[in-house]
Amino acid sequence: MNGNRTLTMIKPTAVKNGHTGAILAKIYEAGFRIIAMKYLKLSEEQAKAFYAVHKERPFYNDLVDFMSSGPIVAAILEKNNAVEEYRRVIGATDPANAEEGTVRKLYGTNIQENAVHGSDSDDNAIIESDFFFSKLERFDLI
Ligand code: CMP
Repeated sequence: MNGNRTLTMIKPTAVKNGHTGAILAKIYEAGFRIIAMKYLKLSEEQAKAFYAVHKERPFYNDLVDFMSSGPIVAAILEKNNAVEEYRRVIGATDPANAEEGTVRKLYGTNIQENAVHGSDSDDNAIIESDFFFSKLERFDLI
């Protein structure tokens, strides 16, 4: 069964370039509800932990430096089949390969600074949501 939640981060370059509001508007227009949201700056240790699954990849150190370089917005999004639906809204990892109108095509800079993160599975959506949010920080009654 497909889950109904996913975790997103609006990445430092997109926040710095003033795209937070436009990206949140795309999220709402696509029919997602925001269950939890915060504006924060990851420490290097936190960025390492979040992306630990990629630690053997050649881009890991650069990714950690980038993701801890400035404030981000993290949010739990809800919609039926959320992981797949959100990945459709954001487009391919590399903005150069993303479809027209997707978040990464519109607001991404390059494959690393690709505007947003979206969970790649229901299991990771749970792990990543628990990374940022306690139970008291989630509002799912509306
Ligand atoms: P994200 O969806 O946050 O998941 C892992 C991140 O690693 C990805 O977005 C990119 O920011 C980054 N990434 C993936 N592949 C590459 C690559 N080939 N070169 C640089 N960064 C990458």
